[in-house]
Amino acid sequence: MKSLNILVTGGAGFIGSHLVSKLLSAGHRVIVIDNFHPYYAKERKRKQFSVLTDGYDICIHEIDLLDSRKVNEVFQLYQFDCVYHLAALPGVPNSLLQPLDYVDYDIKATINVLKAAGDGGVKHVLFASSSSVYGNQGHVPLREEMAIGNVASPYAAAKYGAESFCYAYANIFGYQLTIFRYFTVYGPWGRPDMAVSQFIHRLLRGEEIVVYGTKTARDYTFVSDIVDGMIAALHRSGSNDVFNLGSGNPITMEKLLALLQMHFPAMKIKYAPERIGDVKATWADITKAQQAFGYKPAVTFAEGLARTIEWAKKYDA
Ligand SMILES: NC(=O)c1ccc[n+]([C@@H]2O[C@H](COP(=O)([O-])OP(=O)(O)OC[C@H]3O[C@@H](n4cnc5c(N)ncnc54)[C@H](O)[C@@H]3O)[C@@H](O)[C@H]2O)c1
Repeated sequence: MKSLNILVTGGAGFIGSHLVSKLLSAGHRVIVIDNFHPYYAKERKRKQFSVLTDGYDICIHEIDLLDSRKVNEVFQLYQFDCVYHLAALPGVPNSLLQPLDYVDYDIKATINVLKAAGDGGVKHVLFASSSSVYGNQGHVPLREEMAIGNVASPYAAAKYGAESFCYAYANIFGYQLTIFRYFTVYGPWGRPDMAVSQFIHRLLRGEEIVVYGTKTARDYTFVSDIVDGMIAALHRSGSNDVFNLGSGNPITMEKLLALLQMHFPAMKIKYAPERIGDVKATWADITKAQQAFGYKPAVTFAEGLARTIEWAKKYDA
């Protein structure tokens, strides 16, 4: 495979660190932009980035994508072939508390990247969107054309808006655009605010876990499957398009709790009402990504959960 000159924004984050690691091992030249946003601990980001890129000499620009002058300088300096734009403020509950931050970090910062990519001659922009753009549609497989903007949280609204800006700038500049909609990504170094990470973190300490609503389901996707899909899409042919990256196999909260109980027999649970903004269920139809670039998730949830618990015992205990 040809070695490419690649920018990863948000490359010190959870998914970004795994992506950078895999791109480096495939022989690509990788540059990272990340401002180590304090949404969760900076030290944690530094740790995951250093462990996952150990042994590689990698350049990281600690700048905020809201600073368009600095963003342009990086693009002009390196003349990237392609850009994975992952940097964003994640988190549905926090987006209800700080909605305007999501306009800044998930929309305005994205526009800066999209414009700089066009001015810098980038050939392919790959954008990290979210299954949250589907809103609440019941427990059905979600196909890409089913997102119509009827969302349930400011985070989802920002991602849906950012997708639209991606199309605008891809059409203005003529670069290729690939949008990924990830479905609840988990695994080693999983984001500490997400349910699987939180549950394992607390269970390892013998603490009670808090479950918000039991009638929920998530299409949990192991991080290596996400990253493999993102890399497979690098060389896809075809026009600007959007693809689900999920497992295609939704796990109910009851099933998740039953699996956790096998690892933590003394598990204690506190039940709380469902949170505003959270969708009830996600279920990815992954046919489109399968057909376009051979996306094929390989890690079952039981296996992924066991691997995440093993990781947590070593790094998060
Ligand atoms: N983890 C999931 O399940 C999931 C699901 C759907 C979509 N996504 C999307 O995938 C992407 C990566 O998510 P993640 O879980 O790895 O989150 P993360 O918070 O671990 O990573 C995001 C990174 O972006 C950086 N960043 C944020 N704003 C920035 C800015 N203005 N300038 C420079 N860097 C900035 C942060 O410091 C962080 O390291 C995000 O766009 C997120 O919305 C994630």
